[in-house]
Amino acid sequence: MKIPPLQIGTITVPLPIIQGGMGVRVSLAGLAAAVANEGGIGTIASVGLGDVEDSKHDFDRVSREALVFEIQRARKLTDGPIAVNIMGVLSNAKDLVQTSVREGIRIIVSGASLPLKLPEMVNDDSVYLVPIVSSGRAADIILKTWDKRYGRTADAVVLEGPLAGGHLGFSAEEMGDLEGHALSVLLPKVLAAVKPYEDKWGRKIPVIAGGGVFTGEDIARLLQAGASGAQLATRFVCTHECEVAREFKQTYLDAKEEDIVIIKSPVGLLGRAIRNPFLKNLENDTLEKISCPYKCLATCDVAHARYCIALALSNAYRGDMEKGLVFCGQNAHRIHEIVSVKELMAELKAGIEAYPD
Ligand SMILES: Cc1cc2nc3c(=O)[nH]c(=O)nc-3n(C[C@H](O)[C@H](O)[C@H](O)COP(=O)(O)O)c2cc1C
Repeated sequence: MKIPPLQIGTITVPLPIIQGGMGVRVSLAGLAAAVANEGGIGTIASVGLGDVEDSKHDFDRVSREALVFEIQRARKLTDGPIAVNIMGVLSNAKDLVQTSVREGIRIIVSGASLPLKLPEMVNDDSVYLVPIVSSGRAADIILKTWDKRYGRTADAVVLEGPLAGGHLGFSAEEMGDLEGHALSVLLPKVLAAVKPYEDKWGRKIPVIAGGGVFTGEDIARLLQAGASGAQLATRFVCTHECEVAREFKQTYLDAKEEDIVIIKSPVGLLGRAIRNPFLKNLENDTLEKISCPYKCLATCDVAHARYCIALALSNAYRGDMEKGLVFCGQNAHRIHEIVSVKELMAELKAGIEAYPD
């Protein structure tokens, strides 16, 4: 298959691959820049960047400064396109969006709730806004709201299916019917939802599909089904450039299919993670009671939460598997080695090219 470049606004990349944002320091500047250097779009995840201790005293300032640091670090490593991922449920989402824009970021990707107010935070058409959706209905609601309220549309849409890592946009009932919510089922619905807005605005709104995408062949199939690109995250964890601790990557390498589980996150969403000592402690109810100095999530039910998710994810980043929550996509168990981003991108590219037109 001849590889179609991915275009978002005036930004064009030769490989239609976005490295998905992975919060709490899994996708930092080093990984994002490496992906951008190999012809894709790299994403810095903005959540949980600040030092955990410092964040207790001034969460907003510490988060903001840490994001600036990562964006500037990425800029030193690449001239390629870098996106910033901002979870809509963050209490400081607006600040992070505006900080990214001030630092020259041109692509903002936002999910983990419908980012209905995103255009209000960015009054600049040269900054491309990319909502993450899990259904045609969500795409329709966002595009309709943006159109009516702000007179603008999305510059691309990420469709995240139920095999993705991290927080998921599906209910327990929907997760019980994975086939009914497969990307092949959801993609035509999202394409249909964006079509009226493509017609109205006279331009393409690329749909980028992700969640369980593992090979170049998977990407090629999505492209043939009408996607303009694929978003992959899990595969990028086991690269040299991903800056998590060795133990985090080893958890991926050791994971068997049955170790990959769905959890209820204190954020109020389901999430996918690897059953490690931390999750076993959680099952046995042996975790300490938490208090929350951060107030990082607008939706966190602190009174009933059995752990602080920001802290648990941060512990995983540092390699503490007794106290760390390791998010992953459904296909993490298929990863058997750590490679460079260059090798991974070359493998994916070759896989797309090998697919019949
Ligand atoms: C470790 C990890 C952390 C993630 N963190 C975020 C996040 O902070 N924000 C977000 O929108 N998506 C997050 N995701 C979802 C990814 O961006 C991506 O869309 C999804 O995982 C794609 O599926 P795949 O991992 O099977 O390739 C995360 C995924 C993983 C594996």
